[in-house]
Amino acid sequence: MGGRTLELVDLEPEIRRVGRALAGGLAAHARTPLEALDRKAMELAEHDARLRAALFRLVDVTPACRSLDDLAGHLKEYLAEVEVRPPSLDAAMRAAHTKAGRIALGAAAAGGVRHIGHRFIVGESPQAALGAIERSWRDGIGTSLDLLGEATITQPEADRYAERCRDAIDTLGRAARHWPERPALERDSVGPLSRANVSVKVTALTPLLRPEAPHVGREDAAGRLRLLLRSARRAGAHLHVDMESVDALETTEELFFSLLDEEELRPGPSAGLVLQAYLRDSPARLERILDWARSMPRDPPLVVRLVKGAYWDQEMVAARQHGWRPPVFESKADCDRNYEELTRRLLDARPLVRVAIASHNLRSVAHAVAYNRLSGSDDRDLELQVLRGLGDDLAHGLASDGLRVRSYAPVGDLVAGMAYLVRRLLENTANESFLHHWRQGTSLDELLAAP
Ligand code: 2OP
Repeated sequence: MGGRTLELVDLEPEIRRVGRALAGGLAAHARTPLEALDRKAMELAEHDARLRAALFRLVDVTPACRSLDDLAGHLKEYLAEVEVRPPSLDAAMRAAHTKAGRIALGAAAAGGVRHIGHRFIVGESPQAALGAIERSWRDGIGTSLDLLGEATITQPEADRYAERCRDAIDTLGRAARHWPERPALERDSVGPLSRANVSVKVTALTPLLRPEAPHVGREDAAGRLRLLLRSARRAGAHLHVDMESVDALETTEELFFSLLDEEELRPGPSAGLVLQAYLRDSPARLERILDWARSMPRDPPLVVRLVKGAYWDQEMVAARQHGWRPPVFESKADCDRNYEELTRRLLDARPLVRVAIASHNLRSVAHAVAYNRLSGSDDRDLELQVLRGLGDDLAHGLASDGLRVRSYAPVGDLVAGMAYLVRRLLENTANESFLHHWRQGTSLDELLAAP
């Protein structure tokens, strides 16, 4: 007990030390940060809430637009609601008065959305993404490939999504055999780690996921997820199940645990799930996950990816509509503090589980690395994760420090990726986000202060 108290006393100075070192790496790897167009969009969106809303609506509507003229018409309509328009947008509004002007404007807007898409999406198909994934591996950064798509509406759509996942597992599994050795990414003190790693979303595996009849969706998704787990075992790949909004949470967890309880899936594949620290009940959820892992020890062990959570806006709107207390923390400091507590509990629970800390917040990352070191564990027993397009510089910095890092990389087209893009824009433009403060030049001491 005394040991633990001592460690916590030492934790803050160690966090600052690790954080400063990581910040050095981050700065060294910062390329010309965001390229022209999306930087402009992000800056504009940061500064005006209505403009931000217009931008999201544009991203949302682009795939459905029949022509550039049509797209520009939408853009004009959205911009009309923005009260204080920067001069560049006023010029855009004037251009939209003529057909030729609308076509030019539509092309620029479509290009802008595509450009933002390319920043976050690694390729249209797993095959097309292989080159980028292998380059990243050579740079010391693993990948979790995510098949874009969610909230499936029909059975054929769910079948197609499952087929794309299976194809991703096989394509990646085959290609990964030829990658050069990267010891930091391939083994921890428990044993070998899969080179191929795929993330899936349960709402895309069934059109029947409804809170009022959870067993129907669960059974429908089970057939498809079971096949994916079998494919992952054959390919030697890791399969990760993402967590989405609260209404799908119970079903997703129950489905995951009940499948892994099945006799044939006990010896593998390596599998994981996500814990969202913005949920007020996440500490209890973690206990349930650990209880399950104790009752069903797996080799390789269950992987838990700790995230803050990407559906905050959606949860707040849903709670307001129903007059519920939001299931998520409303203050960022509460969420960040909870994230740190869960990080420590997860790290203390090893080797029962493997731990992946997914955050772009330097303080949260430094806290995990510092706590891991102070508790006497090896760096390789902690995985850090970032999102492609948001955490690339951080990933390179972490890899060059010899830390184990994985980038979450979506594959698919813009239509399938729209909801994903909107979530990234929302977090990237939130005034409270770490990346926002980092871009604004907030001092390192402030960035590394305890939440
Ligand atoms: C999302 O899809 C990264 O899984 C997270 O927003």
